[in-house]
Amino acid sequence: MASNKKVRFGIIGSAGLIGNYHTDTLTKGEGPYELTAVCDISESRVRNQAEKLGVFGTTQVSELVARDDVDAVIVATAHPLHAAGVVAAVEGGKDVLTEKPLAATPADARKLVKAINRKRRIGGIHYQARANPSIRKARQMIDSGELGRILSIRVTGSFYKSNYYYSLGGWRGTWADEGGGVLINQAPHEIDLMCYLAASSAPAELVGRWTNLYHDTSQVEDFASAAGVFPNGVEFTLNVSVAMHADTKRIEIFGTAGALTLQDGKFTRYVRYEKDLVDFARTYAGPDPYAAPEVHDQPLPEVGEDDPSLIHKMFAEAVLTRKKAKMLVSAADGLWSMETINAIYLSGYLGKKVKLPVSAARYDKMLADLIANARSVSRPQRKSEEGMAAR
Ligand SMILES: NC(=O)c1ccc[n+]([C@@H]2O[C@H](COP(=O)([O-])OP(=O)(O)OC[C@H]3O[C@@H](n4cnc5c(N)ncnc54)[C@H](O)[C@@H]3O)[C@@H](O)[C@H]2O)c1
Repeated sequence: MASNKKVRFGIIGSAGLIGNYHTDTLTKGEGPYELTAVCDISESRVRNQAEKLGVFGTTQVSELVARDDVDAVIVATAHPLHAAGVVAAVEGGKDVLTEKPLAATPADARKLVKAINRKRRIGGIHYQARANPSIRKARQMIDSGELGRILSIRVTGSFYKSNYYYSLGGWRGTWADEGGGVLINQAPHEIDLMCYLAASSAPAELVGRWTNLYHDTSQVEDFASAAGVFPNGVEFTLNVSVAMHADTKRIEIFGTAGALTLQDGKFTRYVRYEKDLVDFARTYAGPDPYAAPEVHDQPLPEVGEDDPSLIHKMFAEAVLTRKKAKMLVSAADGLWSMETINAIYLSGYLGKKVKLPVSAARYDKMLADLIANARSVSRPQRKSEEGMAAR
């Protein structure tokens, strides 16, 4: 470990969109960390990057994870490659912060978490939306009982994409290389927040549906929905797409004492009921058949500034102190959303309700079938290795 109490990071997939975000954070941010090595299969891009940043550069993962001046590795390749990167890192004795989602399949996601635990490494996942102070405040309000018993959570989000988007990145929009569409690429943050706020777990069971409404340069779904229940009894509904537009990211939490709405990560409504909904339902004796407790609008909860590098800072603290609890989101927590995403795919494919966790073998069989029977997609000419816009 670095004697100056800084975690020395290496990045796998450093020259991609999110890889560049991580190099920026580690070189410009103020935290107990520094960047010492980058790795990308694109030789020209990684060479330029290493020269510009004055760090070691390589196209070989094995070289990066063997370096003595790397304490922790960020895995920023496409998600079907996360497991390989994470396993290589922990086998090389490194701690690891992986990009979201954990992987593409339940088998890979579970393998990755097991490898981290087996090697007793610190393993985190870059779910930076968890650092949002409004989300943290919402969770505090839920935990304090301010909203009463939580009955349900409703999550929606659209991340409109053109066909051109799919033409740019080789791995995007195919079952083989992306492992799915909006559910596994654009919506994981919302699904993670849903699991975190509702129960700190994956759901117990769900029914899912997904389809491709109109993206003919993509094989995968551009619209998905699901309904289900968490082990603690909280019901959920989810609706995400890259097909719809003007549909902001919204999280609505409904308790027996009040309700909260967050839109694009900010509080937009907080109400409390004059009486607990359950007590009222059980005790009101007429005469109004439509009677309901009065709804009182509350001032919106006050929160501090967002710190987008909080995940990096807390992960680095966990590495330096060897205390997993310091991390904002552990890789094991990344399983909540991963298992949810995989269950929605399997449920939609089978056309029936599924219990979680789903069978990894059944999932692999489904994915093999989707890959084998995927329609061939016509894609506009790929112009260059230009970067993609986030999400
Ligand atoms: N947290 C977020 O908000 C966020 C935002 C965007 C992307 N992501 C996630 O990050 C991951 C990457 O997405 P992206 O948009 O940056 O993709 P990208 O295609 O822009 O970048 C991936 C990089 O990995 C490199 N690469 C591929 N195989 C490699 C290997 N074997 N060794 C080393 N490098 C290799 C590629 O050359 C490329 O530079 C995905 O899982 C995505 O879901 C997360």
